[in-house]
Amino acid sequence: MSRITRRSFVRQSLVTGSAVIAAPYIARSADANGKMGIAVIGGGGRGGSHISEWLRDSRTEIVTICDVDEKAANSRATQIEQKQGFRPKIVKDMRKAFDDDAVDAISTATPNHWHALCGIWAMQAGKDAYVEKPVCHNIAEGSALIAAARKYKKMCQVGTQCRSSAAVIDAVKWMNEGGIGDVKFARGLCYKRRASINPLGDYPIPEEVDFNMWSGPAAYTDPKLTRKRFHYDWHWQRMYGNGDLGNQGPHQTDIARWGLGVDTHPTTIVSYGGRLGYQAERNDSAYIDAGDTANTEVSIYDYGDKCIVFETRGLGITESADDELNTLFQSKKGNKIGVVFYGEGGFLVQKTYDHCVAYDKNMKVIKEFKGGGNHFGNFVDACISRNYKDLNADVREGHLSAGISHLGNISYYVGERNHVTVEEAGKVLKGIKSLDDNAETLKRTVVHLADNKHDLKTYPLSMGPVLTFDPVKEVFPDNSEATALCTREYREGFVCPTADNV
Ligand SMILES: NC(=O)c1ccc[n+]([C@@H]2O[C@H](COP(=O)([O-])OP(=O)(O)OC[C@H]3O[C@@H](n4cnc5c(N)ncnc54)[C@H](O)[C@@H]3O)[C@@H](O)[C@H]2O)c1
Repeated sequence: MSRITRRSFVRQSLVTGSAVIAAPYIARSADANGKMGIAVIGGGGRGGSHISEWLRDSRTEIVTICDVDEKAANSRATQIEQKQGFRPKIVKDMRKAFDDDAVDAISTATPNHWHALCGIWAMQAGKDAYVEKPVCHNIAEGSALIAAARKYKKMCQVGTQCRSSAAVIDAVKWMNEGGIGDVKFARGLCYKRRASINPLGDYPIPEEVDFNMWSGPAAYTDPKLTRKRFHYDWHWQRMYGNGDLGNQGPHQTDIARWGLGVDTHPTTIVSYGGRLGYQAERNDSAYIDAGDTANTEVSIYDYGDKCIVFETRGLGITESADDELNTLFQSKKGNKIGVVFYGEGGFLVQKTYDHCVAYDKNMKVIKEFKGGGNHFGNFVDACISRNYKDLNADVREGHLSAGISHLGNISYYVGERNHVTVEEAGKVLKGIKSLDDNAETLKRTVVHLADNKHDLKTYPLSMGPVLTFDPVKEVFPDNSEATALCTREYREGFVCPTADNV
């Protein structure tokens, strides 16, 4: 291919007949080979999937791989070189990629605490950004990311790929056209077995990792690691991750909100749960797991006339607790990850990325939806059209959906030390406006814990406060402790700007 500029690549992509549409794409590079230059930030498990996606799109090439883990960066560079025919640049500091004219867009699959700052820095430097879910680590970061996308006129796609899945798009459309009648309530499930991440301890940081850059906007623990496995298990330490409510959760909270047509934050939130069951599993009552996020959590979100309940379970998934859900998911034991919409005339269940099933009130299947999609391709399309409305998962959607996880976790964190008996939890839940049968959901949760031999008398549930949220100002007017958790303390050099100073 002749060496053409990125600007001409984009324009050539928009050729209609012989006329070239003058797209307002601001190209970075003057000497590129006609493809959109991508920098992949974070080459772990998910970064590997990003790489595969960019390599299969003939409109893109990976010019840079950035990882603070030298081994990960080198091995990803080799993988890219073998498929692409040339080796991408390797950088450790993402700002080098943002300063590079060969980079048109970045895709980031770093740990959660880096998502927003990485996206904001990239857009400030003139790059479009594909940012993994949850798009932010806290509420304020999400708003700042939206402000940056709009201010710098950049495309910011969130990695909630179900938004591009034909099955989910068709199912939501069918439901919104009245497929199961009026729908006001959705239940998101993350019943996903997660083993303990080993005891809280003092573990070495891998030599190949630049821990200062890895820690970034989170506190620098000088350099001390309290979990055994360096990569991935940060998900279960709140300084970096958001538990499974904020890990798997944003896929399902996004579908729940999308299906219900809810375009704001909830106004009332409460969570209960805990990091439970690992003592019984190890047969060691003194065992302290290194994680500090809940592995068992029920969160209730009231939107006025609509309601979402999200259930996180990390222990073994047994059959006895879940009659209705077993039938709807057509599976008794094993993980259940999805969304159930409860309509006047039946149920719609999102079961996987590319499969949804509708049932009538008698649990008879009435319709199935199948088919995936190309979320990364949709991002490239929008980078070409320069219209963020062409994105299937614009940053604002990502913020509201990640926000559901953050708000639920805030109630749990504020109430973490408020241990309650099942009866006391039941009493609190009785007073909460919700479209769910709160008592029934609590009962199923307790059965699930008992199935896993968890002793609630020794290790009781934590009950968060019932929080009132101002969805416009993004604060809890009556709870300053909860409001403080809408942001974090940042380290010098890694301060995430607020929405009004991006
Ligand atoms: N959309 C999806 O379906 C999906 C699936 C899996 C993971 N994810 C998301 O992807 C992200 C990464 O998940 P993972 O499982 O790959 O985690 P991981 O811990 O295995 O990998 C993260 C990688 O990022 C690197 N990294 C950390 N800080 C960095 C920095 N400042 N600059 C460059 N690289 C840095 C790490 O060294 C590591 O190689 C998470 O936020 C997760 O929520 C999304």
